[in-house]
Order: sequence, then structure tokens, then C-alpha cells
Amino acid sequence: MSALQQKIEQVKKVLAQAVADFSPVTFANSLGAEDMVLTDLIAQHQSGIEMFSLDTGRLPQQTYDLMQEVGKRYGVPLKIYFPDAKQIEAYVARNGVNGFYDSVDNRKGCCHIRKVEPLKRALAGKRAWITGMRRDQAVTRIGLEVSSYDADHDLQKFNPLLDWTNADVWEYIKQNNVPYNKLHDQFYPSIGCAPCTRAVTPGEDIRSGRWWWENPENKECGLHVASIPIRQV
Ligand code: ADX
Ligand code: SF4
Repeated sequence: MSALQQKIEQVKKVLAQAVADFSPVTFANSLGAEDMVLTDLIAQHQSGIEMFSLDTGRLPQQTYDLMQEVGKRYGVPLKIYFPDAKQIEAYVARNGVNGFYDSVDNRKGCCHIRKVEPLKRALAGKRAWITGMRRDQAVTRIGLEVSSYDADHDLQKFNPLLDWTNADVWEYIKQNNVPYNKLHDQFYPSIGCAPCTRAVTPGEDIRSGRWWWENPENKECGLHVASIPIRQV
């Protein structure tokens, strides 16, 4: 069995364990390359896992195109959560439509409204959630575990791809003809909201195109770092 095949078998085991021990389980699907690997595996092997995406309202067109394609290709429902309109209106009135560029606090405030609060609704009533995070993506992710208690949301969190490399992800995508975000072909290795993501140059860190104006230790949006303090902005 190839090294990649062994990793795939391990992911299938983790997914099966999540379903057996922690149903209902949901998968947070950003439609990034890692999440497309999980989409493909879950669609084939784990019909007991639901999927959702957080539509921040500021995603690139290519991400919406992929969202549509996933529905057609897999026939698996992808539930979409939106931010609360009143909170967005208040934030924009205070900070402007692009106020997230002004300070780290403003940026985290926007991520809180557009991602963290909708995530809480997406996880309500679930006993576990699954992400596509990998350890070598960022300094903030080195300590990831395959399964751990998520105190912020009071449920179990699974990171089945934690020991996959970027090369593993792309080998899986190519071998299995998995659809992926077309921005990846334009030097966007990591994709979030359009105004906070840019292309990287070859050899640059894969997350260097995310919130490129901030220091690496700030580069989490609050979905995964426990209890990031949010100041009123
Ligand atoms: S983050 O910085 O945006 O949090 P990244 O894009 O690396 O990080 O995504 C890490 C994981 O967070 C994804 O694998 C996915 O599980 C979850 N995630 C991120 N963005 C979304 C989204 N818009 N919708 C659903 N899940 C998401
Ligand atoms: Fe707002 Fe940028 Fe965070 Fe998206 S990534 S929620 S636009 S600050």
C-alpha cells in the first residue's frame, strides 16, 4: 500500500470513529483543497456526516463556482450559513465596508461577525465537527491533534488530515479527479475572503497570501483558536 493510501485509510478510520462515537457530526467545508479531499472521502464513505460552508458575503467568485459544482458532482447537501445582517450593517456603519484593513482588532471583528458567529449556529446541536486543517499550514497549527475537545463550542473536534502534506492533498485531488477552486491554479494556495487573500510568489509560505499585512501569529480568524479576545470595534 502506498504512503498516501495508508493516510487515506487512516482518514476513513477517523471519520468512522467520529460517526460511531459522536453523531451528529458535521464537516466545516471551506472548499479549499484540503476540504475538497474530505468532501470526496465523506461523499464516498460517510453518508452520516453533514457538511456546511460559511458564506461570509465576501468570497471570491471562483469559490461560489466551486460551491455550485460540488452540489452537482456529489449530490451531497452543502448547507450554507450567512452572517447576521444587522451585525454587518452596524460594523460597516462604524468601520466602512473595508474597515478590516485598519487594525488587527477591526479585522478580527469582521471575522467574528462573518465567520465565528455563523459557525456557532452551524455547530449548535452537533456533538462533533470536522475540519481540513493540517499541521504544516501555519505556526498556529503545529500543535493540532486528530481529535480533541473543543471547549469553545463544547463538542469534539476532528482534524483527520493533520499529518498530510500539501503534496499529499494535490496527489489525491489529481488521482481522483476532484474538483477544486480555480484560484489554486493562479498561485492562491490558501483561499479565504476575496479582500483578505492574494496570490503568493513561488517559494513563499502557503498562508502568506492570507491577511498579508498582519504578523503570522495573528493569522487566525477565530474559527480555530480558542477564545481569541474580541474587542468592540
Ligand atoms: S481560516 O484561517 O480561514 O480559518 P483555513 O482557510 O485554513 O483557515 O481553513 C481551515 C479550516 O477551517 C477548513 O479546513 C474548514 O474546516 C474551516 N473553514 C474555514 N473557512 C470556512 C468556511 N468559510 N466555511 C466552512 N468552514 C471553513
Ligand atoms: Fe472580514 Fe476579511 Fe475576515 Fe472575511 S477574512 S471575514 S472579509 S476580515
